[in-house]
Amino acid sequence: MDQPSPDNTPRPTRRKRYSGKNPRRFEDKYKEHQGDAETMSKVMASGKTPAGTHLPVLLPETLKALRLRPGHTVADCTLGYGGHAEALLSAVQPGGRLIALDVDPLELPRTESRLRALGHPPESLSVHRSNFAGLPKVLAGLGLLGVDALLADLGVSSMQIDNPARGFSFKSEGPLDMRLNPERGAPASALLASANPDKVEHWLAGHADEPRAALLARHLAGKQFATTGSLTEALRELTPDPEEAELTIRRVFQALRIAVNDEFSALDSLLRQLPQILLPGGRAAILTFHSGEDRRVKQAFAAGLKDGTWSEVSDQVIRAGPEEQHNNPRSTSAKLRWAVRTSGY
Ligand SMILES: C[S@@+](CC[C@H](N)C(=O)[O-])C[C@H]1O[C@@H](n2cnc3c(N)ncnc32)[C@H](O)[C@@H]1O
Repeated sequence: MDQPSPDNTPRPTRRKRYSGKNPRRFEDKYKEHQGDAETMSKVMASGKTPAGTHLPVLLPETLKALRLRPGHTVADCTLGYGGHAEALLSAVQPGGRLIALDVDPLELPRTESRLRALGHPPESLSVHRSNFAGLPKVLAGLGLLGVDALLADLGVSSMQIDNPARGFSFKSEGPLDMRLNPERGAPASALLASANPDKVEHWLAGHADEPRAALLARHLAGKQFATTGSLTEALRELTPDPEEAELTIRRVFQALRIAVNDEFSALDSLLRQLPQILLPGGRAAILTFHSGEDRRVKQAFAAGLKDGTWSEVSDQVIRAGPEEQHNNPRSTSAKLRWAVRTSGY
């Protein structure tokens, strides 16, 4: 403990000592949290994302798909750390506008401050804590009939996953929470404790293609798992092969996160409303990270192309190249699809 100095003025708190060369715990990575340039570039060169940040996935490909021009109004449905948003905001200047949404009340104000510090006119950015299923309401509140372009980069950000207190990751001990908005709804621990085996099986099979959904559901449903560690341990006991256990844990955590945040309902709602949200000729780009999401986007775009809602959709899914996959392993599972709303529809 720090002792007061002889004249009783408090001494500055001493920095923690780490057992190795670098801090391992999320909270101790103070240089990354403060944005220290040298540390950040070292971390990125090693193929990792600096703590408390998020690298935008498929950024040039997303910008190409959206064809933004100065004066455009663009919606970023999933603001996160604002990596995409920064590029979208710049691309529509001068005279354009970014409407940014996210459900996360913890990260949203930090990201808004970073974006405002870029120095664009204050009226070129409006930030809303809202589920993207509520985008039409947000637009109506701003007096807008629609937007020229829209991005949804689905799922969770690296800041959310890396922070053990949010309970998203099996790699660190924390409360089994997983709420994108910790002020609403029930944490994963409560959801699991109150669910019956059929429900849990439905989550595991439907949200993560878990091959042993029925068996795992019987062991997990109605049980108390207060922490990420206790759930991980139970899954390891149920899965003797260590390699298979790793995959099972990933799938179960994904399935629970989707259930906790009702992610498929939000996506279905966005896809249904998309034609009304976009102005004629407007373009949408959606980034997905697993098959359940991508299937929905693919089917909605294919149906809209057939019935004339969309004049064009991406014929191939767009994936990250080897260099991006090395620099940002999160991009490995990313799939980008885009669609163009029929003009004069
Ligand atoms: C992959 S991150 C976005 C990263 C962002 N594109 C960037 O460059 O930093 C996904 C974000 O979407 C938010 N999110 C997920 N589902 C949402 C929903 N239904 N409505 C609004 N925000 C959502 C999460 O809280 C998270 O911040």
